[in-house]
Amino acid sequence: MEGESYAQNRAKEMREMMKTYLVTGGAGFIGSNYIHYMFRKYGDSIRIINVDCLTYAGNLENLKGIEENPNYTFVKANICDSDSIRRIFAENEIDRVVHFAAESHVDRSIVNPEVFVQTNVLGTLVMLNAAKESWEQKDGTYKPDKRFLHVSTDEVYGSLPDGDGYFYETTPLDPHSPYSASKASSDMLVKSYVDTYKFPANITNCSNNYGPYQFPEKLIPLIINNALQGKKLPVYGDGKNVRDWLYVDDHAKAIDMVQEKGRLGERYNIGGHNEKQNIEIIHIILDTLKEMLPDADPRKRKISEDLITYVEDRKGHDRRYAIAPDKIKAEIGWEPETMFKDGIKKTIAWFFENEDWMKNVTSGDYQKYYDEMYHDRITE
Ligand code: NAD
Ligand code: TYD
Repeated sequence: MEGESYAQNRAKEMREMMKTYLVTGGAGFIGSNYIHYMFRKYGDSIRIINVDCLTYAGNLENLKGIEENPNYTFVKANICDSDSIRRIFAENEIDRVVHFAAESHVDRSIVNPEVFVQTNVLGTLVMLNAAKESWEQKDGTYKPDKRFLHVSTDEVYGSLPDGDGYFYETTPLDPHSPYSASKASSDMLVKSYVDTYKFPANITNCSNNYGPYQFPEKLIPLIINNALQGKKLPVYGDGKNVRDWLYVDDHAKAIDMVQEKGRLGERYNIGGHNEKQNIEIIHIILDTLKEMLPDADPRKRKISEDLITYVEDRKGHDRRYAIAPDKIKAEIGWEPETMFKDGIKKTIAWFFENEDWMKNVTSGDYQKYYDEMYHDRITE
């Protein structure tokens, strides 16, 4: 029938117009928040393929509710496995790559740097080569409207002195930890593909994120989890190191805006002028927990400033990070929307509502990690 063929043609057209995203590391903290954000924003007008090898930091529970979506596919693969990655490109017309997959924890990189080089440097090279091979045309130009976004960190810029200066896109890379050195190397590889092959990529350098699904090896979820159990709260050094905190949804939004509106080949810093000392963060968390927990809740009695424990400093601990987000604001119109006092409440509320998530991720290997990382620093 004519009507049916119109509908069929229209459906075919819609399928062809639909952008397909290849997200790496989508089972981790920021990647999973990004996938939730994108489906909330675009509904069924996009398709997302999530490739993740599920390290200790990858958790499919972070994608509950998404798995049933017919426009979502999960592929368990390592980004260093070139055959698997190339197969995904061969079997799908990928329009956008959003590359989150990485080893992401500084303390782990100090103990075991090798896997950071493997995943963050060589894995990024595999991703670049697979995308280039799939998108490049015979004349050396690329198929239209293809874009690769490399998600990086402000840590590649090194460390700022107390109260002085900001990181700009032009700040020279000066990484200090094996983690930030591996991310800086991957940034340089991406830049080299832009410069050498005119590869259609952007790099984003974001400050520290916080929010739902963050693994409790990082400061904010670790402090929330320990405080609720009346466990000591480890503060490295003098507690006055400064990080520039951004709510994870604001990061997801920035990534999407850079991919749609950013100038190809450019680097964009993402951050929200929300600098705080670690010790301030810990006090805010304790105050917010006390404010949010009802008096009858037995956990409330355990929460106390006395839990704060100054411990041996992190080796090579960067003093201060602070992003100047002027370029992304001026060129793309992105600005953070979530004030820290609101973001931390949302985050804590999420942890209250998802106690099982925390129980599951802290069972088994986490305990071993915690004991190894903190046993010389803390005596309970
Ligand atoms: P995360 O550690 O929570 O998640 C990393 C994800 O990558 C996990 O799901 C893990 O299973 C996956 N992964 C690791 N190695 C892999 C491999 N070889 N192959 C396939 N998958 C692999 O990290 P995150 O905090 O969500 O960070 C995501 C990205 O954002 C990273 O590139 C990180 O450098 C960057 N970043 C993080 C922050 C932050 O505050 N967390 C800030 C700025 C930039
Ligand atoms: P972290 O969340 O590991 O992020 P990053 O090192 O990438 O900035 O740490 C944030 C800050 O908190 C950093 O200055 C180290 C400090 N920190 C502590 O004081 N105690 C802890 O137990 C952890 C995990 C971090």
